[in-house]
Amino acid sequence: MFDPRPLVDIATAIGREAGALVQRMRASAVVSFDTKSTSTDVVTAADRASEQLVRTRLSELRPGEPVLGEEEGGTVVEGLTWVVDPIDGTVNYLYGIPWYSVSIAAQLDGESVAGAVFEPATGRMWTAARGYGSFLDGSPLRVSATTELSLSLLGYGFAYRPERRQRQADTWAGMSTRVRDMRRAGAASLDLCSVAAGRLDAYAEHGLGRWDWAAGGLVASEAGAVVRLPGSSPELGQDATFAAAPGIADEMYDALVESGFGKV
Ligand code: IPD
Repeated sequence: MFDPRPLVDIATAIGREAGALVQRMRASAVVSFDTKSTSTDVVTAADRASEQLVRTRLSELRPGEPVLGEEEGGTVVEGLTWVVDPIDGTVNYLYGIPWYSVSIAAQLDGESVAGAVFEPATGRMWTAARGYGSFLDGSPLRVSATTELSLSLLGYGFAYRPERRQRQADTWAGMSTRVRDMRRAGAASLDLCSVAAGRLDAYAEHGLGRWDWAAGGLVASEAGAVVRLPGSSPELGQDATFAAAPGIADEMYDALVESGFGKV
């Protein structure tokens, strides 16, 4: 049987190295940056350097295996593809908020089998291998045992385009009275890891790139979360990502649909 754990070791080692580079570059990266889809969607020199480092190391350790990365692109193929977000949470990085990551996943036929999400600012490492569970710094993770929607903590995010953001804001306003509280933390990979650790009971967002969810989604599902990835839940919208503790997953899903989440 295919054992994905050696791929986690590779993702972990490369993630740590890229994370160290990202930390070293912070002082210079924050004074010179470009924008992408909108003027608020930023890319720093550290995003580019981190992706370059990951690509170089993968080509040395796993020659010939294709890479999809946020900054340089690529395609997902049949067989193995590495999926890389060189800095997830770039806006947090820019502002010095320590909630950003280097996220590296291995996907087999488009499905994540191994992943590592490294927090450069704290040195914390989140990992998962399909069928072998998920871990924070080696300690096993488990989702929360919550069963009450009204007592659950919901993580969420915004798209960059202002017109879509307005519609999302209306949805989140509707959700705010149905749950205990909501958090917009700014790094999707770590939001998904937070569901795995029970720090959030659920998380939902539209418009993520594959690099945002590939590793964190596996960390969440291996910790017992119900996970819906883009393309799998038309009711939530074609580009929705959703993760929730099983005790509130159905209710949370229905509440999101009722609040118009699927139509933003
Ligand atoms: C972003 C973060 C953010 C999410 C955005 C993503 P990036 O990733 O994950 O939390 O709301 O949709 O694009 O651009 O910092 O890699």
